[in-house]
Amino acid sequence: MSDAVSISGLSHAYNRSSKPRFIVDNLSLDVSMGDIVAIVGRSGSGKSTLLNIIGGLEPVQSGKVRVLNNTLNHMSDTDRTALRRSDIGFIYQAFNLIPTLNVADNITLPLALAGHTTRSRTEALKPLLNAIGLEDRGDDYPDVLSGGEQQRVAIARALIHKPAIVLADEPTGNLDAQSGRNILSLLDALVKEQRSSLLLVTHSLEVAQVADRILVMSNGKLLTAEESQLNGSLAW
Ligand SMILES: Nc1ncnc2c1ncn2[C@@H]1O[C@H](COP(=O)(O)OP(=O)(O)OP(=O)(O)O)[C@@H](O)[C@H]1O
Ligand SMILES: [Mg+2]
Repeated sequence: MSDAVSISGLSHAYNRSSKPRFIVDNLSLDVSMGDIVAIVGRSGSGKSTLLNIIGGLEPVQSGKVRVLNNTLNHMSDTDRTALRRSDIGFIYQAFNLIPTLNVADNITLPLALAGHTTRSRTEALKPLLNAIGLEDRGDDYPDVLSGGEQQRVAIARALIHKPAIVLADEPTGNLDAQSGRNILSLLDALVKEQRSSLLLVTHSLEVAQVADRILVMSNGKLLTAEESQLNGSLAW
């Protein structure tokens, strides 16, 4: 079976003109279809940068990044955006809900962008609103929702188009422990039901336990937990 994500020799620097600082340095990663991978690592180690590159939000500077048989290096901004909209669900570190859209319209935005009819959007919305326990909140706007509720809406929005890959950047970071657990089991269940691959960035070892594999972002590379312990950088 082909890989969901296949990365080799990826490097990425900000401030490329003056003094480049390599946040990602010759990184490799392979994620199979249906795989759940947790990425941990210190603040500022480049976890969000990596997810943004995989999700097509940041262009590939050097190395090779393949996502679902598309080589991102050769794709324009527009084509990367199209790929993200059709095949990737992105749960951002900040929930990024659209304040002027109600819950229902926030969740169905990926379908609206893909040109689905109002009717098919409503049909897809119902089971997902039930799954996130917000069946009677579709007409509310994000500003009246609690943090956990907003995060559930963000998860529903990331999954409504049944993406092959879900990229989740600290999906439980802003929540109390119990809400975090609830959100995580919801995300885990929905991802498994849809057989999506999940790349999950987290600071929590407890959260990372849902994954098939845990990788540590360290000095611009992804290490296994064993490798990371060997070089003494497992503190994050
Ligand atoms: N657009 C940007 N321009 C310049 N520097 C950036 C930019 N985005 C991120 N950085 C820097 O790159 C480094 C990695 O940032 P990134 O957001 O990927 O880290 P992270 O591992 O997700 O951290 P956290 O756990 O705090 O979310 C940081 O030092 C950050 O300041
Ligand atoms: Mg981050």
